[in-house]
Amino acid sequence: MAAPLALRGLSFSLVGPGRVGASLAAWLTACGARLGSSVGRAGLEQLTTGGQDLLLLAVPDPALPGVAAQLAHRPQAAVALHTSGSLDAAVLAPLAAAGTAVGTLHPLKAFPHPLPDPEQVRGVFFAVDGDPEARALAFRIASAWGAEAAQVPAAARSLYHFAATLAAGGVVTLLAAAEEIAGRLGLPAAVTRGYLELCKGAVAAAAEAHAEGRPLGAALTGPVARGDHATVARHLEALAALAPEKLPLTRELAQETLRQRERAVPRV
Ligand SMILES: NC(=O)c1ccc[n+]([C@@H]2O[C@H](COP(=O)([O-])OP(=O)(O)OC[C@H]3O[C@@H](n4cnc5c(N)ncnc54)[C@H](OP(=O)(O)O)[C@@H]3O)[C@@H](O)[C@H]2O)c1
Repeated sequence: MAAPLALRGLSFSLVGPGRVGASLAAWLTACGARLGSSVGRAGLEQLTTGGQDLLLLAVPDPALPGVAAQLAHRPQAAVALHTSGSLDAAVLAPLAAAGTAVGTLHPLKAFPHPLPDPEQVRGVFFAVDGDPEARALAFRIASAWGAEAAQVPAAARSLYHFAATLAAGGVVTLLAAAEEIAGRLGLPAAVTRGYLELCKGAVAAAAEAHAEGRPLGAALTGPVARGDHATVARHLEALAALAPEKLPLTRELAQETLRQRERAVPRV
């Protein structure tokens, strides 16, 4: 829960008032921070943030190096933080060379559109990295938002981001495959709603396992995890007839289920 006055006195400017930028700027001001300038491509040329505490960069990943190089020609804030998940703080090297402490503040959340309500920060994890002064400010901001944060160093960045795509898009891809199979079987839309509920229950069980200090794989259910070979064989036979293109994925998924089951409940 965002603390209303926790960032009083913090001055910041924003480059990239898009989905993430507009949201984070609203969450910052909700905690008492003061917004100076907010610019996109149009206002970048003149932007100077010297004397301010924070320059927040929420532009598309490919634009970050050019934006950093352009801004480094003029005095800028004490700290610059970008919001990319896959890029590390080194992408802001021109600003670092000009004397700004650089770092990252990546919200592990999907922003389909701006989400300015500070309630939206509840439960969001932030990946922090960079120079000590930049990390300290990033952690202070996350703490003001009542959010969890941890350092995700440069070497871990790419696969941290990939694993996030497994946790979000990967799950939706599997749900979409389940929906497609039900559709090919001629089953009604209620079945898809049933799969969505089933998924929520499975995610809740995985969260419970995590809260109890157990690996997420401890929450695995289904015939593969149970070692019910007869049921698995019937699934594969029916799938070969209806959706053979899904057989390689199904086999890989079963292998991974067994690996995760083994991690969670090692055989003695
Ligand atoms: N969307 C998500 O779910 C999400 C989640 C976590 C992290 N992120 C990260 O957050 C960052 C921003 O993503 P987003 O989805 O918020 O992007 P977005 O909605 O497309 O917004 C991008 C903003 O950057 C501005 N911009 C684009 N090119 C620019 C340039 N060369 N110079 C200055 N401003 C520029 C745009 O304004 P103008 O059009 O006016 O120039 C716009 O306000 C990215 O690093 C992304 O990886 C995104």
